Amino acid sequence: MSQSIEIGKRKTFGIVSHPDAGKTTLTEKLLLFGGAIQEAGAVKSNKIKKHATSDFMEIERQRGISVATSVMAFEYRDKKINILDTPGHKDFSEDTYRTLTAVDSAIVVIDVAKGVETQTENLVKVCRMRKTPMIVFINKLDREGKDGFDLLDEVETKLGFKTCPLSWPIGMGQRFQGVYNLYEKKLVLFRPHSKQKDAEEVIVIDDLNNSLLEETVGDAAAQELREEVEVITEVYPSLDIEAYLEGRLQPVFFGSAINNFGVKEMLDCFVDIAPNPLPRETEERIVEPDENKFTGFVFKIHANMDPKHRDRIAFLRICSGIFKRNTNYFHVRQEKKIKFSNPTAFMAAKKSVVDEAYPGDIVGLYDSGNFKIGDSLTEGEKLHFKGIPSFSPEQFRYVVNKDPLKTKQLNKGLDQLMDEGVAQLFTVQSTNRKIIGTVGALQFDVIQYRLKNEYGASVDYEPVNLHKACWITYEDGAKYEDFKLKRKRDLAQDVEGNLVFLAESAWSLKMAQENHPEIGFHFTSEG
Ligand code: G4P
Repeated sequence: MSQSIEIGKRKTFGIVSHPDAGKTTLTEKLLLFGGAIQEAGAVKSNKIKKHATSDFMEIERQRGISVATSVMAFEYRDKKINILDTPGHKDFSEDTYRTLTAVDSAIVVIDVAKGVETQTENLVKVCRMRKTPMIVFINKLDREGKDGFDLLDEVETKLGFKTCPLSWPIGMGQRFQGVYNLYEKKLVLFRPHSKQKDAEEVIVIDDLNNSLLEETVGDAAAQELREEVEVITEVYPSLDIEAYLEGRLQPVFFGSAINNFGVKEMLDCFVDIAPNPLPRETEERIVEPDENKFTGFVFKIHANMDPKHRDRIAFLRICSGIFKRNTNYFHVRQEKKIKFSNPTAFMAAKKSVVDEAYPGDIVGLYDSGNFKIGDSLTEGEKLHFKGIPSFSPEQFRYVVNKDPLKTKQLNKGLDQLMDEGVAQLFTVQSTNRKIIGTVGALQFDVIQYRLKNEYGASVDYEPVNLHKACWITYEDGAKYEDFKLKRKRDLAQDVEGNLVFLAESAWSLKMAQENHPEIGFHFTSEG
C-alpha cells in the first residue's frame, strides 16, 4: 500500500498522568475498543504497586512485563493507533521524557478529586516544550471531586493550558448522570449497572432547550446544565483544530475510565483531530514522513531479563520512508551498515515479526550492544535527530568498586546500563572518580542489583554533595580555557565526552553563571 495512505492512518501518542489517575485503565478501554484485547485486566499495570514489599524487586518484576506494554497498537475506524507506554513513577521520569520524543500527541489523564498533580505538571512541561498537541481526560467522575469550572481553572494555571471543554458532566459521584457531549451535540447517560458492555446510553439532543433533557435528567440537573453550557459557550473558546495541533488549545473530556464511560467520545474526537506522524527535526534538516528514504531513531532500550542472554530490544520510531526487514541500513553513530532479520511489531500484548513498517510505527530491534538511546538509522544520510536530550539528574552518588578484580565487568555493565538510559555517568576530571546521576533514588538500587546479577560486579555508593549537572557551551575559546582552569574541580565528562559543570548548590551555580557570563549552562544535553 502506498506510503502516504499508511501515514494518513497512523496516530502515535502517549498517555501522561500522575500514578493512579487511571492511565492503565484508560489504555485498557482503548484497546478493548480496538478489539486488540478481549477482556478487562489484560493490560498489566506497569506501575510500582503501593504495597510492594521491596520497591526495586517490584521494578524487576515490572521490567518483565514492560516490554509487552512499551507499545500497544490497535486499529479503530480504519486508523492504526500506537500507544506508547509512559511510566508514571517519578523515579522513571527520564524514561517517560524520552518516550514522549517518539509520540505525535498526548492524552493527559487527571483524577477529578485530586486535580493536577506534580508528575502531570512535570510531564506536561516536557510536552509543552515540544508543542505536543494534548487532549485532557478528567477521570473518575463516578466519585465526588472538584467542581468542573474550578478544575478547568486549575488545569489552565498549573499546566499553562488554554482549555476547550468538549464534554460537560451532569453531576458527580452519587449524582453523576452522564455528560453532555459538546463535540457531537448529544447527551450521554451514565448507566453504571447496565448489563450491556458499556455504561453508556446515548441520546441525541441538538438543542439543549429540548424538553427531552428534563425528562431524562430531571428539572434541576437540566437547568444547571443549560446554565453551565451557556457559560462554556461564552467563556471558553470553541474547538480550533489548528490551535490544538500547534499546542495552543487543549480539548477537555470528562468521564470514568473504569466504567468505560466517556472514553469512546474522547477516542472518536482523538481519531478526528489528532495529528498523523509529524515531521521531525534533526541537527541537519527537517525530516518529512513522506520522504522516500527510511529514517528512524532509538528512543528506548530494554535489556533482556535473562542475564545469560545479553541481547536487548532497541525501540525504533520510524520517521520517514518504509522500514523493511533484512535490509541494510546505516547506523549513523557507528558509521556501519546493519540489518535486522527479526524486527518486531507490537499489537497490544502480542509481538510479531514485521516485514514493513511505516512512519509513526515503532519496531523493536534485537540488539547485542550496538545501540544507544538517540541513535539514528538511515539509508546512508548522516542525520542526528533532535529532542532526545539527557536531563540534569537530581540525585548523585560516587560509585565505589568493591571488587577490583571485576573492574572490566563493572565498566562494561555501567556502559550498557548507561546506553539503556537507566542513569547518567560522569567522570570527575580532577580525580577520575565516577559519579552516577539519576532522577530518582530507586535507580541506585536497580543499578547495584543489575550490576551484580547481570555482570557479576559489586558496587557501593558514597554520598556526594551535588545539586545539578549542567552541560556547558561557549563561544569564546579563550574565555572557555579560563573557565576550565578556574573551575577544574567542578568539571566532569559525560559518557559522550561532553563537558559538564557539577554544581554543589543552587547558589554555587548562580555564582558560576555570574562569574562566567560568556559560558552557557544548560539543564539538558541539547542546550
Ligand atoms: P495508573 O495506571 O494511572 O496508575 O492508574 P490505574 O489505571 O491503575 O488506576 C488507579 C486506580 O484507580 C485503580 O484502582 C483503578 O481501578 C481506579 N480507577 C481508574 N479509573 C477509575 C474511574 O473512572 N473511577 C473510579 N472510581 N476508579 C477508577 P486500585 O484500587 O488502585 O486498583 P485495582 O485494584 O482496581 O486495580
